[in-house]
Amino acid sequence: MILPIFLTFSFLFSLSYANTIAFDFCVGDLNLPSGPSGFSCKDPTKVTADDFVYSGMRVASNTSNLFKFGIRRALSPQFPGLNGLGISIARADFDVGGFFPMHTHRTSEILMVTEGTLMAGFIDTNNKAYYKTLMKEDIMIIPPTLVHFMINVGSTPVLAYTIFTSANPGVQLLDTALFQNDLPAEVIEKVTLLDHAQVTKLKKIFNDTNISSLFG
Ligand SMILES: *[C@@H]1O[C@H](CO)[C@@H](O)[C@H](O)[C@H]1NC(C)=O
Ligand SMILES: *[C@@H]1O[C@H](CO)[C@@H](O)[C@H](O)[C@H]1NC(C)=O
Ligand SMILES: *[C@@H]1O[C@H](CO)[C@@H](O)[C@H](O)[C@H]1NC(C)=O
Repeated sequence: MILPIFLTFSFLFSLSYANTIAFDFCVGDLNLPSGPSGFSCKDPTKVTADDFVYSGMRVASNTSNLFKFGIRRALSPQFPGLNGLGISIARADFDVGGFFPMHTHRTSEILMVTEGTLMAGFIDTNNKAYYKTLMKEDIMIIPPTLVHFMINVGSTPVLAYTIFTSANPGVQLLDTALFQNDLPAEVIEKVTLLDHAQVTKLKKIFNDTNISSLFG
């Protein structure tokens, strides 16, 4: 019984694997419907070298915000050439004192510092923190879904790159998830044990923060 099941699964697996390599690429067509596996493919006869090049990260991100931090993303919506390929990249700029607050993604991440000194860390499901001060050229791996953060601890701006194992890894910030949502303050107070004054203050701060402006 086990063997036939195993063979069936192996067959299905090899079929799906064959499917994934039956196409050289699937440049996303942002005008066609998209689904959980990404965008529909652009007509391959219309694909050119330009579809595989993205120049949107030449300019530093705007760091004029509460976090003194900005991101430029080359994910499938910005860079449809990587649609379906399970990989993407972003550029992160941190002004002096800048930080990327606690956040999560659906996927693993490699962080690489190319300028400055950056403290980075993540917290595992046992609430143990793993953090280090990274120098120029250091890299750190962040496992999928775990909460992580980065702080510029140096006296010069930081430039870093993050590479994701997905064409669209998603991002959720703890601060805005807690304080920029529509839940009544009483609910947040109940589930966080914070008092009314703190919740009101944080709701005001994050209501006034346009998070999409961080992701230029
Ligand atoms: C940077 O962002 C701030 C706040 O959103 C804005 O006022 C400013 O014009 C932006 N600067 C540039 C150079 O885009
Ligand atoms: C959030 O901002 C909007 C307008 O941008 C305002 O109508 C609303 O009252 C604000 N909410 C809080 C809790 O400050
Ligand atoms: C937030 O920022 C984005 C990107 O800069 C902009 O498109 C959007 O209009 C802003 N939203 C508000 C409410 O200001």
